[in-house]
Amino acid sequence: MEVVNRYVATRHHIEGAPTEADFEVKEEMARWAPDSGEVLVRNLYLSIDPYQLNRMKRSSVTHLAVEGILPGQAASTLLSPSPSVKRITTYAAGEVVASACEEYKAGDKVAGVLGWEDYTLFKPSPAVVMSKVADDAAGFPLSHHINVLGTSGMTAYGGFFEVCKPVKGEKVFVSAASGSVGSLVGQFAKLAGCYVVGCAGTAAKVDLLKGKLGFDDAFNYKEEPDLKSALKRYFPDGIDIYFENVGGEMLEAALANMNPYGRVALSGVISEYTGGARRAVPDLLEVIYKRITIRGFFAYDFLSKFAEFNAVIGGWVRDGKVQVLEDVSDGLESVPSAFAALFRGQNVGKKLVKLA
Ligand SMILES: NC(=O)c1ccc[n+]([C@@H]2O[C@H](COP(=O)([O-])OP(=O)(O)OC[C@H]3O[C@@H](n4cnc5c(N)ncnc54)[C@H](OP(=O)(O)O)[C@@H]3O)[C@@H](O)[C@H]2O)c1
Repeated sequence: MEVVNRYVATRHHIEGAPTEADFEVKEEMARWAPDSGEVLVRNLYLSIDPYQLNRMKRSSVTHLAVEGILPGQAASTLLSPSPSVKRITTYAAGEVVASACEEYKAGDKVAGVLGWEDYTLFKPSPAVVMSKVADDAAGFPLSHHINVLGTSGMTAYGGFFEVCKPVKGEKVFVSAASGSVGSLVGQFAKLAGCYVVGCAGTAAKVDLLKGKLGFDDAFNYKEEPDLKSALKRYFPDGIDIYFENVGGEMLEAALANMNPYGRVALSGVISEYTGGARRAVPDLLEVIYKRITIRGFFAYDFLSKFAEFNAVIGGWVRDGKVQVLEDVSDGLESVPSAFAALFRGQNVGKKLVKLA
């Protein structure tokens, strides 16, 4: 038996900011009956992530994502550059509709590496990033499992607590602070007793940070002609921790305002993905003299601590200590515009596409 499977494909390699015209929705007939050991998932929520753009370029720095740096599937399917025009793998959540594997049965909810498509077949193995969402998952919506209880939560929690090692009272700066990762980092930093300032690209986002999300302060970076002096104003006593989501000038400005022994968690550099902004040229003497630590990391570095992180984060969400922001578009056809929106600053919180 077969089923019509619609999937989103890139029309060509993408250079610059993505637009809707770079993608198309295609159809194929897919097997409904999995082969031995396989599981067929109907995807219900797709994650829309900035890093995907780096996989869609002709030449990509992600050639560094080779086996050994990341666990099997994460390296080979999530980060590797697309060799040609093709469908996109992504973190997603869905429901098992057919299974030829003892561990999974029809009706099970799962979250892990699936695809920008209606249905995905996967074969469980230790290298495959996939987890069952327990029925008793405290009543969290399925979407949370690819957001605060998925890669966004792992990135924010691991990047902030494991990489930055915050101490109560330290001063923290978060860029792209109203986004999926940034909005969580800022709230985690407040829970750790830090002073937190975030930046974002609209007045409404700034209000959200200072209001609902409880940041100590926030500013619109697009209205600041000189980011170095803006940060000097918001951090007269210097920055201890910078959670970096943006790159370019923002990284240079943050480094210029860091305190001795400051830590920078390099989560992402979205302004550099489109080639629109020049790459950061930090003053390395500043880094040396101030003994600043700059550390890059991947969410998947923390896979072994996934359950541990989620126990803490889930508790905070349940107790209302962490607000979860989800920006949901409807239908597979909306994937291209949802993806382009990330680079136009049009999302607030985690960008998701809901199918069915
Ligand atoms: N290391 C990892 O494992 C990992 C995992 C997930 C995400 N990340 C990284 O974390 C960062 C945030 O990802 P996310 O999923 O949470 O996305 P997000 O912040 O929810 O969405 C992207 C946001 O970035 C801002 N932005 C877009 N272009 C910009 C530019 N040129 N300059 C400054 N800001 C810009 C926009 O908000 P504004 O209104 O503020 O402009 C936009 O809403 C990205 O760099 C991503 O690659 C890393």
